[in-house]
Amino acid sequence: MKFAEILKGAEVEGKEKHVPVIEIDKGRGEAGEDIVRVIVGKEVPHPNTVEHHIVWIELFGVKKDGKVVNLGRAAFGPSYTKPNVRFQVPVSEFKAFCALAYCNIHGLWQNCIEVE
Ligand SMILES: [Fe+2]
Repeated sequence: MKFAEILKGAEVEGKEKHVPVIEIDKGRGEAGEDIVRVIVGKEVPHPNTVEHHIVWIELFGVKKDGKVVNLGRAAFGPSYTKPNVRFQVPVSEFKAFCALAYCNIHGLWQNCIEVE
């Protein structure tokens, strides 16, 4: 088995939304920093109970030369914190961003976006 076989994406998403949505807000931080926001359940909220919740989100960046950088990880307290997190990242140094989200019931989900 390969690691990629356990990663799920938009192609298998049902009515419950797990795919991490990645949004870039260039220069929109408090002091003009670039922000990369990752959200699970942006349109349809994912359940957020002890029994069923998003446990963590991780963000990776792909540099212009192809090097992969782990940019950060957020872990959530079920029923209190929502899986919606912002990272301050120098966006222009990267050509793509990829996020992983882990649901304790439905497994590991991925998404990537290219930076223009
Ligand atoms: Fe789930």
